[in-house]
Amino acid sequence: MKQGGRALEVLIQTIEKNREAIEQIVLNAGRYMKDHPPQIKDVHRKAGLANFVTDEDIQIQKDLIEKFRKIFPACSFYGEEDTAGNSRNGKEGLCFFIDPIDGTTNFIFGYNHSCVSVGIGYNGKILAGFVYNPFADTFYSALRGRGSLLNGKRLQIRNSPIAEGIVSFGCARYNEGDTDALFQIAKELYLGSLSIREGGSAALDICRVAAGANVVYLELKLNPYDYAAASVIVEEAGGVIAQVDGSPITLDRPCSILAGTRTATEEVRAICSKYLKK
Ligand code: IPD
Ligand code: CA
Ligand code: CA
Repeated sequence: MKQGGRALEVLIQTIEKNREAIEQIVLNAGRYMKDHPPQIKDVHRKAGLANFVTDEDIQIQKDLIEKFRKIFPACSFYGEEDTAGNSRNGKEGLCFFIDPIDGTTNFIFGYNHSCVSVGIGYNGKILAGFVYNPFADTFYSALRGRGSLLNGKRLQIRNSPIAEGIVSFGCARYNEGDTDALFQIAKELYLGSLSIREGGSAALDICRVAAGANVVYLELKLNPYDYAAASVIVEEAGGVIAQVDGSPITLDRPCSILAGTRTATEEVRAICSKYLKK
């Protein structure tokens, strides 16, 4: 094992040793979300069209950071909602990528399809991911090199093409660039698959790829906290994740996301190349 590989393995073992405590923190955060449906006064607008944050998003992120810091005092945090100590630098050292509520719009409207998403990375490589949907009580987790679990059960993806599965994609009003291209792509995906879905929580919809419910997930712009945790969950289940043009995902800035089976992602990449500018 190379020097760097050895250092990563030691870190993974440290995360493994604390796995139960980390999972309990994520579980409690999810339960808090479920027990605190937002009131109108809790909902606030952020920059951009239809971009919301609730008091619950802010509270959950604050609690998560406080609790993780007790276990990993030297780590940094890259979370969606700004609170003290939130570094937004996922490139150096041990970093927690936190989306306190992925699927905030779903949460506001009572869709019951939202999650807490926590990824742990080191020097730009994701080592572990934890994604919990309290409404369905589904807990996805993965440690690099140790496989992916859904409620404790090992996940393994079959290499299906889009013709044999459900295609999932995401779009947000605050990221409207390439809307025409995206919906042309979505039409082709719909016609070439069994059906399409837009679930409203990228983290959960990527995890559903790991569980075999979605054959692929596509979104043209997401932030690291949306996909960090789910990226290792899908990879450890035997799937792939990259940008639409095939380059690796980024952890210090937003990028496009194409996750799925090897075959399905190649098919979707070919469709995208017809509609997206190089
Ligand atoms: C959003 C969800 C949605 C995706 C958006 C994300 P948020 O995150 O993951 O499914 O399409 O691009 O921003 O705002 O609910 O945390
Ligand atoms: Ca999100
Ligand atoms: Ca969020």
